Amino acid sequence: MSLFKRTLLKTALGGLAVAATLGATAQAGEVEVLHWWTSGGEARAANVLKQLLEEEGHQWKDFAVAGGGGETAMTVLKSRAMSGNPPSAAQIKGPEIQEWGELGLLGQLDSVAEQGRWGELLPPVIADVMQYDGHYVAVPVNVHRVNWLWANPEVLEQAGVEKVPANLDELFAAGEKIRDAGYIPLAHGGQPWQDATVFETVVLGTGGPEFYRRALVELDPDALGSDTMIQALETFKRTRELMDDGMSGRDWNIATSMVINGKAAMQLMGDWAKGEFTAAGMTPGEDYLCVPAPGTEEAFTFNIDSLAMFRVSDESEQEAQQALARLVLEPEFQKTFNLAKGSIPARPDLDMSEFDQCAQQSLEDFQRTADKGGLVPSMAHGMAVRADVQGAIFDIVTNYFNSADMTAQQAAERLVNAANVAM
Ligand code: BGC
Repeated sequence: MSLFKRTLLKTALGGLAVAATLGATAQAGEVEVLHWWTSGGEARAANVLKQLLEEEGHQWKDFAVAGGGGETAMTVLKSRAMSGNPPSAAQIKGPEIQEWGELGLLGQLDSVAEQGRWGELLPPVIADVMQYDGHYVAVPVNVHRVNWLWANPEVLEQAGVEKVPANLDELFAAGEKIRDAGYIPLAHGGQPWQDATVFETVVLGTGGPEFYRRALVELDPDALGSDTMIQALETFKRTRELMDDGMSGRDWNIATSMVINGKAAMQLMGDWAKGEFTAAGMTPGEDYLCVPAPGTEEAFTFNIDSLAMFRVSDESEQEAQQALARLVLEPEFQKTFNLAKGSIPARPDLDMSEFDQCAQQSLEDFQRTADKGGLVPSMAHGMAVRADVQGAIFDIVTNYFNSADMTAQQAAERLVNAANVAM
């Protein structure tokens, strides 16, 4: 039943509709959901889930912790869990799902998964991450692509840049023209996760997906200490020349707004940035452009958002958790949420005709790169390595990016040391 029809039915039948949707045995319950979707586009997307859940008669207790990339949210989650009071659902991603599973704190979603045929619907690269010890413990909401370059075509034109940079040399050449024309070439927010987002994208653009995988997924010391890594680190440091002095501490969505309002020409960011362009009423291909980040056309760094459920004893809370998990993979949520969020659906079987050209390209590239070995997990977004290793890499990357005297060679050595400690 469509959202519209359900709303109508509810209005017509009042409380009866709620009872009918919940069924004879189900009980209305509350789910407290921890997430970090607080920017304009993100909040619109999160609201879709809240509405759908409430239409089934359950309550959504919002536990939003601001901070892009989710570092703060994860810190808050840990302290809530340590005090024995975790929320019933939380935005937990990638290998971190395994870490929470090992602690024995997650509840199972096997019966919802079986009824919804998740095993058939989801690509294995997604289904695997959602399971701990053979049981579904999390549900995927989307697939974000991280290696995008967003651009304001009017600013490029004003600066005499004829096409969006397709490789790193073109990026720096365009940057010079943009700077000369009085604009900021690259909008950036100086926060560790944003620095790491640019870093991994430059590693990908420099060494290609195979090198990226060896260095940032497998943590191969030979790759981390290689000349290719040193070159990537030097190029990464050079991107500072394209950024502005006010970047320190800036939130990612403020950086996106600089591209939206024509202060800056471009941003290297995952496609949650598209949620901001969409919320501002802009159309891709006209008001803004999306292209694969320089030199990464043959690759796709994926970042899958998912909600993991904590084990709860209250029956009505369990019912609400199961309803939430079911709704997340239903076509209605997958479509409406992802249109607002900038990502593509987690299930590839849906009609994409309402999605814009960036999303269509994303889906096509997801499938194409999966076939050719270019589909790689994002290190910066918690898909590639465990949280402690990710934290160590963030520290090295940010310190190097902000240090006047740490050399690329030294940064590479630190990465090798961090990998050796992790093994
Ligand atoms: C999350 C996105 C979120 C972005 C910015 C990423 O790590 O996967 O859902 O929009 O951070 O907060």
